[in-house]
Amino acid sequence: MIHNASWRAPSNIALVKYWGKYGLQLPRNPSLSFTLSACYTDMQVAVEHMPVTPGVSVLYEGQPRPSFEPKIRLFFNLISDRFPWLKDSMVSINSRNTFPHGAGIASSASAMCALALCLLEIDGQISGHKNLLDDDWLRAASEIARIGSGSASRSVFPIAAIWGETVASDNSSDAYAIPWGPQLAEVYKDYRDTILIVSASEKSVSSTAGHQLMEQLPYADIRYSQARDHLIQLCRIMEKEGDEMGFAAIVEAEALQLHALMMSGPQPFILMEPATLAIIRKVWSYRRDTGIPVCFTLDAGPNVHLLYPSRHQPAVMAWVQDELVGYCSEGRFIEDRVGSGPEKLA
Ligand code: PMV
Repeated sequence: MIHNASWRAPSNIALVKYWGKYGLQLPRNPSLSFTLSACYTDMQVAVEHMPVTPGVSVLYEGQPRPSFEPKIRLFFNLISDRFPWLKDSMVSINSRNTFPHGAGIASSASAMCALALCLLEIDGQISGHKNLLDDDWLRAASEIARIGSGSASRSVFPIAAIWGETVASDNSSDAYAIPWGPQLAEVYKDYRDTILIVSASEKSVSSTAGHQLMEQLPYADIRYSQARDHLIQLCRIMEKEGDEMGFAAIVEAEALQLHALMMSGPQPFILMEPATLAIIRKVWSYRRDTGIPVCFTLDAGPNVHLLYPSRHQPAVMAWVQDELVGYCSEGRFIEDRVGSGPEKLA
């Protein structure tokens, strides 16, 4: 008998960054992210009981991708206590991303979130438990996704999520993310994220290596405590309308700190490109000149996420076309926005 599940899961962009981990992918500091809408992974998973020849096969955009299999096998080993049937099964994964491959956008958050949702649904089918898709079920999905990729734990929830213990919420946990959409003022529930593709190349340093380098950094503890403070301040700002400039200040400080940490270790590395810096300067002067609260954030890469309230979309997009497209690789950018979370596909 073959069990099937199919889910669409979005990517997310961290406002307060997770950078540094311990144990089984547990975060050194809490993080907060917007769930995205246009950048997502669609995945189908088929599980067949095959005790003699168990294994994993991966199709990505219709093509076999054996290079993805070791990471997935490692993930399956880490969650085999939770899903004992994995050891005796052939698991076939078929996935595609909406964001162009090689756009330099990390796909591990959306892919690992989609995989966790598919596995949990199939586990319900195998065990005969009902898949209720309720709060407990989503929390379990977030915990499993976390083991695949820390940031994936946050993609389970619509609008925004917090992962990691923080005094900002009694329910927060290092083990899973919690939804943070309902707490937000309306303006943040519809924020825009225009992603400027500065470079489409693969990252030169993986985030796994980056997290590990934090262990050797003398500033690490100060960074973790500052991230904790930033998260509390940002939660307060985002509960109310009207302080989008305060939002911009913290979000940009987080992005710059992330990259400063990369440049500060015993094996420093730089993921920003000259165009990244040029765009940052443009953002600062545009914000000063117009009063429009557009700000930037960066992932572990050179691409720039422009975050702004949707009421400013026409003005910001006109400015992007006039002044920023020239910095993008082949003029590429993605118009994304805060999104409604994962979706079960038929
Ligand atoms: O989930 P990982 O291990 O790929 O780490 C993600 C790290 C950042 O994207 C830089 C920050 C974050 O919180 O998403």
